Amino acid sequence: MKKEKLIEEINRLRKEKRAVILAHNYQPEEIQDIADFVGDSLELSRKAAEVETDLIVFCGVHFMAETAKILAPHKKVLLPDLRARCPMADMVRADDLRWMKEQYPGKKVVAYVNTTAEVKAETDVCCTSANAVKVVSSLPDEEIIFVPDRNLADYVSQKTGKKLQAWDGYCPIHQDIKPGHIENMKKRHPGAEVWAHPECRPDVLLLADRILSTGQMIKEAPKSEVREIIVATEVGILHRLRKENPGKKFYPAREKAVCKNMKRINLEKVYRALLEEEPEVVVEATVAERARGAIDRMVRFI
Ligand code: 13P
Ligand code: SF4
Repeated sequence: MKKEKLIEEINRLRKEKRAVILAHNYQPEEIQDIADFVGDSLELSRKAAEVETDLIVFCGVHFMAETAKILAPHKKVLLPDLRARCPMADMVRADDLRWMKEQYPGKKVVAYVNTTAEVKAETDVCCTSANAVKVVSSLPDEEIIFVPDRNLADYVSQKTGKKLQAWDGYCPIHQDIKPGHIENMKKRHPGAEVWAHPECRPDVLLLADRILSTGQMIKEAPKSEVREIIVATEVGILHRLRKENPGKKFYPAREKAVCKNMKRINLEKVYRALLEEEPEVVVEATVAERARGAIDRMVRFI
């Protein structure tokens, strides 16, 4: 089917079925353009719980759709391609976390939202990159288990002064943005600021003017005085930044910073998902029950 026809059919089906299409800031441009709402992990979790619809088409990766399903258990949550998984989320399993809890008995567990439901079920409170510092600061404990992102853990530990016992996970896309990429871009655009996602390596964060989640980048761009920004995160975010800030220039720190799992979603798959009402994301009831508290606590932090 041609692109125009696909969009027409998606619009017809979403109206007929009263479905809502949610998309992450890293989704392909064509998906961001047809979505009812585009946002970061935290904003999408909140939206999923809020929307008055029985059918959500979640355009993102599996842990995000799973989080939506846990927050909205009576809604049907579709992920147009079940292979769209986050490699970082898959770096830690529930039994790894149970092992860590044995190593640090009595310590609280903070899990990045980029984790499976089974890991969340073993967690005290979840966080996203938008509220990780606030979540960790809110705990009275000085030593905390943090999974799975070692880079985010390092950043949060510096910001809060707390000791985080971190799992050795990382996002392969952010890990591949190196200080050399930033230095090159700064030479080419000397007036530009560097904005980096906290999943970046510590030596990249040292070169950043600001450290922000994807949603925070979107909010801060129109408010900022600077006209040029080097963006150290997945390149999908550039679409929205450019669209919403036509007077500013945004450069990718690394053009090859592409999350291929995020890009598995396309218009054809969204159309199929709406038509067939699958693939559906299901979370085993006892796991969902145990994970919900940690996710609920996360969405309460701005
Ligand atoms: P945000 O929560 O900032 O959208 O990040 C999600 C993610 O997967 C980053 O790689
Ligand atoms: Fe996971 Fe990294 Fe892709 Fe985000 S960009 S979904 S952390 S692999």
